[in-house]
Amino acid sequence: MIEILSREIRLRRRPTGLPVEDDFELATVPMPELRAGEVLVRNSYMSVDPYMRGRMNAGRSYTPPFQIGEALTGGCVGQVAASQNDRFQAGDCVTSSWGWREYFVSDGRDLTRIDPGVAPIQAYLGVLGMPGLTAYIGLLDIGRLKAGETVFVSAAAGAVGAVACQIAKLKGCRVIGSAGSPAKVAWLLDEAGIDAAFNYREAADLTAELGRHCPQGIDVTFENVGGAHLEAALQHMNGYGRIAVCGMISQYNASAPAPGPRNLALVIGKRLTLQGFIVSDHADRRPQFSADMAQWLATGQIKWQETVIEGIARAPQALIGLFRGENIGKMLVKVGPSPAAP
Ligand SMILES: NC(=O)c1ccc[n+]([C@@H]2O[C@H](COP(=O)([O-])OP(=O)(O)OC[C@H]3O[C@@H](n4cnc5c(N)ncnc54)[C@H](OP(=O)(O)O)[C@@H]3O)[C@@H](O)[C@H]2O)c1
Repeated sequence: MIEILSREIRLRRRPTGLPVEDDFELATVPMPELRAGEVLVRNSYMSVDPYMRGRMNAGRSYTPPFQIGEALTGGCVGQVAASQNDRFQAGDCVTSSWGWREYFVSDGRDLTRIDPGVAPIQAYLGVLGMPGLTAYIGLLDIGRLKAGETVFVSAAAGAVGAVACQIAKLKGCRVIGSAGSPAKVAWLLDEAGIDAAFNYREAADLTAELGRHCPQGIDVTFENVGGAHLEAALQHMNGYGRIAVCGMISQYNASAPAPGPRNLALVIGKRLTLQGFIVSDHADRRPQFSADMAQWLATGQIKWQETVIEGIARAPQALIGLFRGENIGKMLVKVGPSPAAP
């Protein structure tokens, strides 16, 4: 039998601030021969996600830290290349958490079979996967969105933000998004069809800029960025508004805790609810989400974008690029072949 070699990305040292390529190393490992019950999977795409930065630090957060010298992990989609397991056949498409590598061997328990007929398989890392579910939970369950309300989404052209914007639109809300480039703003207005969008990098005063786009105030904020974005949102929240705190990416590379919003006391008089959430606590909502999202994709009510970096060796660049805003929509690394799109 021909020996299969798999390249993988390992953490060489813990980054300080924004990661650099030297924090990672590329290694090549041989795949073992399959034993009874095992499956060899060849990854097609790996997901690049902001939470991965937190796992590069020492100390436990809501997920355990990556270990130095070990291959990183994360969401991925691929195809079964060979199987000694009755439940899987060569060619089956699966998701798993064995990203940052080209191949892996599994006993099958950590694989989820996906239907490549619904959408190209990489959509299961974005709009049909964890980021899509995050948007759904954050808006509907945490934000308790109602038709006719005004919604503000930060990092609006990213994987989570773009879905949040469009779910809010199809639920009958007025939607404002902030993003970091003219191309992202154009996509939000022209493709995602939201009501207002602005480039926060060009705003001299973020609070004033946001205010120009929400003359009736904001009822639900979907917070992805934190810092100045959260401060601006607090200023314009309406009474009894809800802030779904999904992420604070502006702080993930900070070496010391950032000061809180200076106007946090506004939560009192405005009777605001500010609630963080973690998508993995809401697995029970996945069946409903999957059914709704499959329908929204089929009817064209939700559009999705992806930014694809080619080759496992460039995965560190993709992660660094995420923090530079180099992605529109879902940031992915293509690490192997994928089945033809449906
Ligand atoms: N709570 C949960 O369970 C959960 C699950 C998934 C994701 N999240 C959070 O959701 C947020 C979005 O995640 P995603 O996967 O969809 O990523 P993403 O939005 O696709 O990509 C990250 C984007 O964040 C923006 N950004 C990066 N650094 C920034 C900075 N310093 N200040 C302002 N904006 C910055 C960039 O867009 P611009 O060009 O617009 O700046 C970048 O494209 C993150 O905060 C993430 O941690 C939370």
